[in-house]
Amino acid sequence: MTQSQFAHAALATPIHGEAARQDFVRDFRLHLATRIYPGNRDAYARRAEPAFRRNQGAPPRDRHDVRRAMTRDPYYQLWSCMQRASQEQMWDSVIDSVERIGARPPRPTHTASGTLTLDRDLAVPRYLSARDIHLQPGGYHAESGTEDVAAGAVYDRGLFIYSMGALGSRNEDLGLTTLDYFQKHYAHRTPERVLDLGCKIGNSTLPWARAFTKAEVHGIDVAAPCLRYGHTQAAALGVPVHFTQANAEATSFGTGSFDVIVSHFFMHETSRTAIRRIFAECHWLLKPGGIMLHLDIGPAAAAEPLQAFLEEWEVHNNNEQFMGEIRDMDLAALAREVGFAAAHLTKHSSQSSGQAADGYINFLQWPIYVAEKSP
Ligand SMILES: C[S@@+](CC[C@H](N)C(=O)[O-])C[C@H]1O[C@@H](n2cnc3c(N)ncnc32)[C@H](O)[C@@H]1O
Repeated sequence: MTQSQFAHAALATPIHGEAARQDFVRDFRLHLATRIYPGNRDAYARRAEPAFRRNQGAPPRDRHDVRRAMTRDPYYQLWSCMQRASQEQMWDSVIDSVERIGARPPRPTHTASGTLTLDRDLAVPRYLSARDIHLQPGGYHAESGTEDVAAGAVYDRGLFIYSMGALGSRNEDLGLTTLDYFQKHYAHRTPERVLDLGCKIGNSTLPWARAFTKAEVHGIDVAAPCLRYGHTQAAALGVPVHFTQANAEATSFGTGSFDVIVSHFFMHETSRTAIRRIFAECHWLLKPGGIMLHLDIGPAAAAEPLQAFLEEWEVHNNNEQFMGEIRDMDLAALAREVGFAAAHLTKHSSQSSGQAADGYINFLQWPIYVAEKSP
């Protein structure tokens, strides 16, 4: 692997046998991405597309037609089975290290003035509790006690293996990317209060807190074990972040509380109804002239049908139930509907160059939905 994960105090560092299994999963995923996945194009061109054309009298028009054409193809089925197996193996290999350590927060080695505020009565929305998103066992919120950090510890190590290290040694690339976008496009602004929605373990929140040392940086999520882990990690690193267990659809912050609201791969894990509420909540929470930046999956219409179908593998095989529907939504229009003065979709370069194991590049540019509240 080109780089190792940064070993902060909260990380469930694997011992030898566990590391060997985790390395295997990472290399298996790399093999699938570089050697097996590309063959889907060949299978489509040689078999699936001509068969569809013969039966329907026309070529597939969109990703839904491609799905009809491809799901029975033996090559696609082989890749899909292996991809699913690699996802299950990934969690299995990480859970061993977390269970060995005991899933309790380690004592931070540095102190920071961040906080952790949990709400034991907060209801986890059904779109998160109905299925284990990404197949992470128990989802993000399951906990076995008031000190449990297991879901956060599993996610931290799992994300590094999932991305094959392409999000950087600290899994920070998404946060670095929204931060870079903000600094390039709003260079004259120095935010006093920043909010990260669906912050999980704070991996994308920390770059904002490091960049704006005088600002109050907050992260909210519904998942208590992830927030506990994030708080421990931030304290160990000496970065002040305020973690709060809250639902982004209706928080208890007052209107005009924030200069900037960001999120990173958060919206596609909610629902159609929730997104409208979340955008309205962002509008309410921002100061006049405030900025909202959501880094997320891009619209399906931007990809050719086969590519759009392959990108939708996650929906049908990795419990990303809303990831397909959101790709057909016009989120910039939705932002304007809830009151934002201006909104658009842009793309911004990955700050860690998206380089994974063995030089394989899997992320170059991230879609960012940008909206501004009237001054
Ligand atoms: C894919 S994860 C986010 C990843 C993280 N932001 C990162 O940069 O790696 C999505 C997170 O959103 C949280 N979430 C989903 N719906 C939410 C809601 N309505 N309110 C708060 N958090 C929510 C989930 O608990 C989960 O931790």
